[in-house]
Amino acid sequence: MIPESANQIKSPALSIDRIKAGVKGIMGRKIFFYETIDSTNTAAAALAGEGEEEGAVVVADSQSKGRGRLGRSWLSPPGVNIYMSILLKPEMVAKDATLITIMAAVGCTIALRKVTGLDITIKWPNDLMVSEKKLGGILTETRVVRKRMEYAITGIGVNVNMDADALPDIVKEAATSIKMETGKSFSRTEVIREVLNEIDDWYNILRKKRYSELLSQWKHLTSTLGRNVQVVLGKETLQGQAESINDEGMLVLRLPSGASRVVQCGDLTLLR
Ligand code: BTN
Repeated sequence: MIPESANQIKSPALSIDRIKAGVKGIMGRKIFFYETIDSTNTAAAALAGEGEEEGAVVVADSQSKGRGRLGRSWLSPPGVNIYMSILLKPEMVAKDATLITIMAAVGCTIALRKVTGLDITIKWPNDLMVSEKKLGGILTETRVVRKRMEYAITGIGVNVNMDADALPDIVKEAATSIKMETGKSFSRTEVIREVLNEIDDWYNILRKKRYSELLSQWKHLTSTLGRNVQVVLGKETLQGQAESINDEGMLVLRLPSGASRVVQCGDLTLLR
C-alpha cells in the first residue's frame, strides 16, 4: 500500500494541502506526494492495482525515470516543474484512449492559458506548445481487459520554473518553460490546482460522451490543423497537410497524392 503522504512535503512552493483545499471536483481530492519517485505514472498504476478510486493523483517533486511518449525519457529535475499522474476509470473501449489525451490536453491548455496568459497551443496529439517550443506533454497509459479500459493513467509534465541552463543542449532549441517565456516564476501549487479543476470539467464532458464539444475545443486550441506536417510512424514517414482529427482523436492527413490517411499515433513535426 502506498501511503497518502501529504505530510512528507519539503518543497515550500508546492503545498499539497492548498491544492486539495482548492479542488472543486474529484480530481485531486486524494493526492499522493513524493519528493522523488521513478515515475508518477508507475506509482499511479500501482495505486490502480490496489483499487484506488478514480481522481486520485500522484505528484512528485522530481522523477528518476520520468518517461514520455515513444519510449523517450522526460527530464524531471527537482524544485521547478510539475510531474503528476491522474487515475481515471472511464467507461470506454480501448480504441478511444486517444480521447483521454485529447481531454487532458484541452484541460491543461485552458488552465495554463488562464494562469500564465501565454498563447499555449496543442500539437497533436499531446504536446503543449508555446512559440513552437514544447512546454509540456501528456502520457496516457491504459490497462485494457477484453477490449474494455479497466483504468487509464494520464501523466502530465509541465516545465514551470525551469531555467534555460537546466536544459540539455540537445533539447534547448525545442523546449521551453513558463518562466523562460514570461520571465516570471509561478506557483506550482496554483498551476496544479487550475489544471486539476479544468481537467475535472473536461473529464465530465468526456464521460458524458459529449465528444463533439471536446473535439471542437481541441480544434480551437490546436496549432496543428491546416499545417504541413511530417509524421514518423515507426519505419514509415508521411508528409502532408494536417486536415482534421476524427471522432476518435486520430489525425486525418491529406497526402500530396490527394489521398487521405488516418494516423493513430506518431511523432509529428510542424513543417514551414
Ligand atoms: C510526452 O510529451 O512525451 C509526454 C511526457 C509526459 C511526462 C509526464 S511527467 C509525469 C508523468 N510521469 C511520467 O513518467 N511521465 C508523465
